[in-house]
Amino acid sequence: MQIGTALTASATKVMLLGAGELGKEVAICLQRYGIEVIAVDRYENAPAHHVAQVRHVIDMTDGVQLRALVEREQPDWIVPEIEALATDTLLEIERDGLAQVVPSAQAVQLTMDREGIRRLAAETLGLPTSGYGFAGSLEALIETAEKVGYPCFVKPTMSSSGKGQSQVHGREELAAAWEKARAGGRVDRKRVIVESKVDFDFEITLLTVRALNLQGQTETYFCQPVGHRQENGDYVESWQPQAMTPKALVEAQRIAAAVVESLGGRGLFGVELFVRGDRVWFSEVSPRPHDTGMVTMAGQGQSEFELHVRALLGLPVDTRLLRPAASAVIYGGMEGSGLIYEGIEAALAVPESRLRLFSKPLAFHRRRMGVALAEGKDVEEARVRARACAAKVQPKSHSAMP
Ligand SMILES: Nc1ncnc2c1ncn2[C@@H]1O[C@H](COP(=O)(O)OP(=O)(O)OP(=O)(O)O)[C@@H](O)[C@H]1O
Ligand SMILES: [Mg+2]
Repeated sequence: MQIGTALTASATKVMLLGAGELGKEVAICLQRYGIEVIAVDRYENAPAHHVAQVRHVIDMTDGVQLRALVEREQPDWIVPEIEALATDTLLEIERDGLAQVVPSAQAVQLTMDREGIRRLAAETLGLPTSGYGFAGSLEALIETAEKVGYPCFVKPTMSSSGKGQSQVHGREELAAAWEKARAGGRVDRKRVIVESKVDFDFEITLLTVRALNLQGQTETYFCQPVGHRQENGDYVESWQPQAMTPKALVEAQRIAAAVVESLGGRGLFGVELFVRGDRVWFSEVSPRPHDTGMVTMAGQGQSEFELHVRALLGLPVDTRLLRPAASAVIYGGMEGSGLIYEGIEAALAVPESRLRLFSKPLAFHRRRMGVALAEGKDVEEARVRARACAAKVQPKSHSAMP
């Protein structure tokens, strides 16, 4: 492993596809190793653009644009931060030896499609999941939902962050769910997954790392489970560690290892699991740092971002949690541009708290504009602190300023 000098001919370069708040933290970690960061997004001044040497704005779902940019910039690695990418092009780029996709082009392609990853987990690997079926028309949806049973979730096979997703309690709600899925899907593939509702006690993200050990072999490492609370398909708070039975933890790690080892490549994965008692169900997986995992910036010696960077570079990792921690999301709470954030002094007066403000150029009500992090003697204390810290931050509209 060698690292060159950024902005010279010897530079070691990483291209981030998606320059949001997660990409921004990855970029900061890369910068600390002197790596040249090329941040790409579909709009200007995205969070990671602020901390990259090179910035681009392109349509990353357009394979021609994506390939042209990779040929021009010649990155050593490509790190996807979002799902909406021309993944066929990523496969070609990797196959042609232009750059290494992290963790692998195959992992990125399989996980962007709920059908691909669900069939891999349930059918190929035999892992426990909710009951499920797929449908490509309203008629097929009715048939599938009747088989899966109610309540169930209807989700576009290509979507994220809860977009186009509904919980359905009976046949009469299916037509609306079908319309919502069609409108909310990323591409007009008109295909949905129907999942039976898992009656879980809590849900976790098991951050799982595939990295080189000191013998130079790829090994699977686990972080402590991250618990989280979702509202309308978006996470509002997370904490670490989530307490669970020893049996459930072993089962969660077994499931996560099976999934990431079959996806291949090196990097950090966010494995989403549902837990009830000793039972665990696989839900889905991100082959990249996970939003609920921002909490690792507080409690772990190496955050999920640092772990992702170390894994791709082939460096040793340490997943230990040093202290219980929590995160709470700060929303825009309004529509506007050039927001001003007030109340920061009061927010950081909360003991053991930290803030990340993403500096997104445009705000809307439910847009994630920042996150509050806190540590504590236990998860309860950390959660109270993170929520208190987040609540003190007041996004204001620029035009309302004197
Ligand atoms: N089959 C299910 N049983 C119970 N709850 C579910 C099920 N599917 C989804 N949910 C709930 O909805 C949330 C979002 O679902 P899912 O993770 O599939 O959507 P997503 O659009 O990929 O969201 P994100 O991108 O934020 O992870 C889950 O975290 C869980 O709280
Ligand atoms: Mg999810």
